[in-house]
Parts: sequence; structure tokens; C-alpha cells
Amino acid sequence: MAKIRVGVNGYGTIGKRVASAVAAQDDMELVGVTKTRPNFEALAALAKGYDLYVPEESVEAFNEAGVKIAGTIKDMYKKVDIVVDCTPGNVGEMYKAQYQEAGVKAIFQGGEDHSLTGISFNSTANYSESWGAQLSRVVSCNTTGLLRTLNPIDKKFKVEQAFVTIVRRAADPGDSKNGPINGLEPSVKLPTHHGPDVQSIMPWLNINTMAIKASTTLMHVHTVVAQLATETTTQEVIDVLKEAPRVRLVKSKDGIKTTAQIMELARDLGRDRSDMYEIVVWEDGIKVVGNTLYYYQAVHQESDVIPENIDCIRSMCKVEQDAAASRAKTDAALGISKTL
Ligand SMILES: NC(=O)c1ccc[n+]([C@@H]2O[C@H](COP(=O)([O-])OP(=O)(O)OC[C@H]3O[C@@H](n4cnc5c(N)ncnc54)[C@H](OP(=O)(O)O)[C@@H]3O)[C@@H](O)[C@H]2O)c1
Repeated sequence: MAKIRVGVNGYGTIGKRVASAVAAQDDMELVGVTKTRPNFEALAALAKGYDLYVPEESVEAFNEAGVKIAGTIKDMYKKVDIVVDCTPGNVGEMYKAQYQEAGVKAIFQGGEDHSLTGISFNSTANYSESWGAQLSRVVSCNTTGLLRTLNPIDKKFKVEQAFVTIVRRAADPGDSKNGPINGLEPSVKLPTHHGPDVQSIMPWLNINTMAIKASTTLMHVHTVVAQLATETTTQEVIDVLKEAPRVRLVKSKDGIKTTAQIMELARDLGRDRSDMYEIVVWEDGIKVVGNTLYYYQAVHQESDVIPENIDCIRSMCKVEQDAAASRAKTDAALGISKTL
């Protein structure tokens, strides 16, 4: 079977990771990545052996800088089956028309609105809804985190209502522009967009969210309170999350007390870019009281959506009908496993 030919448009935090994840799959071929500026990231992509494609208006700058390009972005469209759009939020709209004109499929990221594609994707919750689609959208890092845990919990116990507070990282580690670097900044427009974004995939879920930006770059942390329709026990919830795809349980008593130790564990695991693709739940922080479930989870914002993009490619390109089979393939290539 021919490999799926993939182009990555936008080579930043998410695009770099999608590119290496595509290159690691045996049923996909990374045709190339795009850059608008001939900076160090362009040179690093070339050093990895990736072909660079640039917008028409950037060709001169790359030629002047002596940075080799394989063509324009429009040349890339001719060589691919699908583009993974990893450009900054709200830039995708401009590209949508180009993808449609070129007749290529496209995946957008969580910085775009659901209305851009009409379909949003999460491998655990709705893999088959993107089957054969021309356009889809992998939801944001926080939404992915909430779906990974709330979807299996809802399936087993039925969530009547969920309240979530998101403590958001202020900036990604490679970003020296955003803040705050001191202080905590509540999102005062309530409820935040995260709840409706979860509902773009689980429309029946009654969920409300609040968020606070914190002076950290490593991860987001969620506090989740869920009213369940079924009475259960803490142990039963632990059992469900133990089996949930791309969810990792850790224990505070093993020394994982903060996001700093989670990212140290990610470095110990030796994965590409030291990424923690799984949503990390503190097992000793899960508690059921009556019908109310409480838990904390941490989200590695730079990487949790990466395996989702790979599964979304398989669903849209109709190469694997079974979500679990696609996840198993993706996870094996990225080194994600339920054992340490
Ligand atoms: N970072 C996260 O935590 C995170 C998590 C989940 C989802 N997302 C979503 O993923 C998307 C990408 O976010 P990101 O964090 O990866 O952004 P990013 O780090 O800023 O990377 C985006 C890259 O796109 C390139 N770019 C800018 N304008 C472009 C254009 N017109 N055409 C082509 N490339 C262009 C820029 O590189 P050059 O201009 O140098 O080429 C930039 O490095 C957004 O929708 C975001 O909301 C982000």
C-alpha cells in the first residue's frame, strides 16, 4: 500500500513535532515542511533531512541567505495527500482556500475555531467522525487533555456535570515574548472557551471551565470536579483511567509532586524532544466522595496533540478504520506505552 504523503505547514512548537512523528510512521512519508523565515529553525529542519517549502514572497530571502528550498508552498501541495496546518491560531483560515483549491486534505489545530472545519478530532472520543473528511481540526492541548480522561469516565459512569479549573502555562519553553513572568492572571471572560471546545466533540457533556495563567512554561494543570450519575469508588475510577488511552497515572508518593518531576520523567524516558504525550493524572489525587469525583491532571501542551494528529491523518485518509489499531501503531512509533 502506498504511503500517505504528508506536508507540514508551519514549523513551530507543534509543526516540528508533527513532522518528526510523521517521519516515524511506516505508513506515512514526510514530503516537507514550510518556513517563512530562513532562521535557525530552517537550518535545523534541513539538517534533519527535511525539504523546505516557502511562501512565494519568502523565496528571495531564502535565496539571499543561501538556505536551500525545494519549492514554494504551492509546489508542496502538488506532492502531498494531506497538509497538517500548524500555523499560528487564526492563520489557518487564509490557507483553507488554498488547500481546497489544490484539492488536498487538511488538518487544522486548536487555535482555529471548530466552524472552520465543522469536524473536530480526538482519537479516544470520535476517531470515526473524520473518516474520509477533506478537513478536520485536532482540538487544543487542554481540550485533548479533558477528552482523554472525561470521555472514558463518562462512558463508564455518565458525567452529569463537570467543573474544571485550568492552570495554564504562560508560554512555551522556546518563547521569550509571552508572560506573565510574575503573577497569576485569571481569564475573566467566563466560562472560558475550553468547555464549548470539549462540547464540539462531546456535545452532551455539561461542562464549565475557568482558567488562570501561571508563571511556568512546563505544563498546564487541571483540577476536575465531576458529578457522576452512577455511584462508584475511587478504585473503580483509577481502574478506568489505568486503561484509558494515552493517560498515565503517577503517584505523588513516588516523588512526582509537581510538573517539574513529570518533565524530568519525560526526559528519563528518552523520547523525541523529551515529550510527555500522555495526560498525567495523580493517582493519589483521585477521590470519589458520594457521587462526586475529584482529580488533578497535567498536560504537556507542546506534545499531547501530536499522536492525535497522526491518528487523524489515518482516519481522514481512510487507511485504518479501527481507532485502537491506529493508536497502537502511532504509540509504538512514538514510544508511548502503559509500562514505564
Ligand atoms: N504551543 C502549544 O501549546 C499548542 C498546543 C496545542 C495546539 N496549539 C495550536 O497549534 C497551532 C500552532 O501553534 P504553535 O504553538 O506551534 O505556534 P508557533 O510555535 O508560533 O509556530 C507556528 C509557526 O508558523 C510559522 N508561520 C507563521 N506565519 C505563517 C504563515 N503565514 N505561513 C506559514 N507558516 C507561518 C512560524 O514560523 P516561521 O514564520 O519562522 O516560518 C511559526 O514558528 C495553533 O493553532 C495553536 O493554537 C498550540
